[in-house]
Amino acid sequence: MISFNNVTKTFEDGTVAVDDVSFTVKKGKLITLIGPSGCGKTTTMKMINKLIPISSGTITIDGNDISTENDVELRRNIGYVIQRIGLLPHMTIEENVSLVPKLKGWKKKDYEKKVDDLLDMVGLDPNVYKKRYPLELSGGQQQRIGVIRALAGEPPIILMDEPFSALDPISREQLQDELKLLQKNIHKTIVFVTHDMDEALKIADEIVVMKDGRVEQIATPTKLVQHPINDFVRSFVGDDRVKKASGSRGELLADTIMQPIQAEVELNNLPEISSKSNLHEVANIMLSKQAEAIIITAEDGKPTGIIEKNQLLKELAGIQKEVQ
Ligand SMILES: Nc1ncnc2c1ncn2[C@@H]1O[C@H](COP(=O)(O)OP(=O)(O)OP(=O)(O)O)[C@@H](O)[C@H]1O
Ligand SMILES: [Mg+2]
Repeated sequence: MISFNNVTKTFEDGTVAVDDVSFTVKKGKLITLIGPSGCGKTTTMKMINKLIPISSGTITIDGNDISTENDVELRRNIGYVIQRIGLLPHMTIEENVSLVPKLKGWKKKDYEKKVDDLLDMVGLDPNVYKKRYPLELSGGQQQRIGVIRALAGEPPIILMDEPFSALDPISREQLQDELKLLQKNIHKTIVFVTHDMDEALKIADEIVVMKDGRVEQIATPTKLVQHPINDFVRSFVGDDRVKKASGSRGELLADTIMQPIQAEVELNNLPEISSKSNLHEVANIMLSKQAEAIIITAEDGKPTGIIEKNQLLKELAGIQKEVQ
């Protein structure tokens, strides 16, 4: 688990790039940092592997303050895909990918197998590609190598700074799918920076929205579109997406959110509505009857559940149980 506790970065010239930021990334989760250019995403990320020293606050990994850790050791356990691909041009693909495993003292046959497995995984035939140099690959292929190089040493944490930004939309989608699939199997703790809300919504377990060095909102993708906390987040998420999300909430059917009827509830004075009504209709009846709850009836007209007003309001405002 990575924790930021009131972390601030002020550069020598006085620029406050990151301003009192706190958030945590749970083990095995993928968090995306998103926000406009210059809002402090790369700086935030580089503080995790100590490429940039923090000015105040603390960052801990599994409870250990990183300021007390050896920089080189720390970085060996953190894979890093930088904003520009950053492959070493004079080394072959094989040498680039096996760099960290070699530093970690892996046996030759182990790192050679790793290179082949990883190349296979991203759809590049090892026999064709491993002896090539980076410039002998297309941009998208180089980017794939950038990603697998970060995975090669099996680090528990991976930092990815706009790793797919230079790609055409199709390769980009493909790599997003690959990353999602990969994450399902390997459960790394990943911090992923992007400008692209579609990308963030697609791949993230949780999204941290930043502006001017500060965190505006931290939420799951579902919650972010259903309940953006302010106008900035709303416009960053996109009005269309927010409207769509709130519209579709009202279209949920009553039986998807109703609760079982407790024996002690007095049903006599409550209005009733069919379980196939949507939440807009449920809300209309409750408002017109000024009721605190409504009985949901099955097709045979018998009561099958109940929705209370508070629960309905929360549901419509998007403050529902998180989809994990
Ligand atoms: N070494 C530095 N000295 C002074 N200011 C810096 C330095 N590095 C970055 N900054 C400033 O800190 C702020 C945050 O930069 P950062 O690179 O973290 O932004 P970003 O969110 O990653 O942007 P982008 O989306 O364009 O990559 C910017 O205003 C930038 O100009
Ligand atoms: Mg950046």
